[in-house]
Amino acid sequence: MSLFHRTQKQSTDTMDNGAKLITVAHPKSPISEQFRTIRTNINFMAIDKPIKTLALTSANVSEGKSTVTDNVAVVWAQTGQRVLLIDSDLRRPTLHATFSKSNQRGLTTILTSGNNSVDLREIIQSSGVENLDILTSGPIPPNPAELLNSQRMRTLLDTVKSIYDMVIVDVPPMLEVTDTQILSRHLDAVVLVVKQEQTQKLAVKRTVELLKLAHANLLGYVMNDVNADGDAAYGYGYGYGYGYGYRENTE
Ligand SMILES: Nc1ncnc2c1ncn2[C@@H]1O[C@H](COP(=O)(O)OP(=O)(O)OP(=O)(O)O)[C@@H](O)[C@H]1O
Ligand SMILES: [Mg+2]
Repeated sequence: MSLFHRTQKQSTDTMDNGAKLITVAHPKSPISEQFRTIRTNINFMAIDKPIKTLALTSANVSEGKSTVTDNVAVVWAQTGQRVLLIDSDLRRPTLHATFSKSNQRGLTTILTSGNNSVDLREIIQSSGVENLDILTSGPIPPNPAELLNSQRMRTLLDTVKSIYDMVIVDVPPMLEVTDTQILSRHLDAVVLVVKQEQTQKLAVKRTVELLKLAHANLLGYVMNDVNADGDAAYGYGYGYGYGYGYRENTE
């Protein structure tokens, strides 16, 4: 979409190597603490209606969705709640690479199988992180939007909601494809990842409009790439911030 000119090239880093799980490698680092603050703030925003299904999306590709999503899932599991992380980015999946797991079977296996022909417990894998299970994307299909918009996807979300305390979904960017818009209306909440000094204001505004059109429950945003004290000590050279108040900041 030329209106939303991309300022960063698509990165295949997390598809090839997985997202960096600093919350696993350095749980006491300042960045991990910021992820816990993001979790706390999401909880604060859920006062009226408990949140059991959550996605973190962004306007464009490579703005840090998968990295933020996976680390938020880890800190959620670290509270002792049973968490399922689903890779529903059926175009640029990363979850299997992040946890070094097989992706021969996954979400698409479930969505394309006949009624009751697959056992969820055989396809969901344990991540290696306590309390955190993962459902990888499965083989990449030719029709991702159609699969995510299926009744079977909605049934799956209902089923896993009854098994887990929290279901966190990795999704594609909003302005590239319609997948996330479709899915967001069936999730309890959505949080926007905004990459500092990269995501354009107009792109954020359009993304917020699209989420509103989908009747998504947009809780707020996470600022990615915020300079945080102490991050260089862990060899990452970046940090995370968070904020809630996109309405004021995107005008
Ligand atoms: N705060 C950050 N500072 C520096 N690099 C980062 C930061 N967050 C993510 N990255 C890097 O940016 C690249 C893209 O990150 P990631 O795959 O998480 O983004 P994404 O939005 O999920 O991308 P996609 O649109 O392909 O799904 C990766 O190489 C990741 O390590
Ligand atoms: Mg991603």
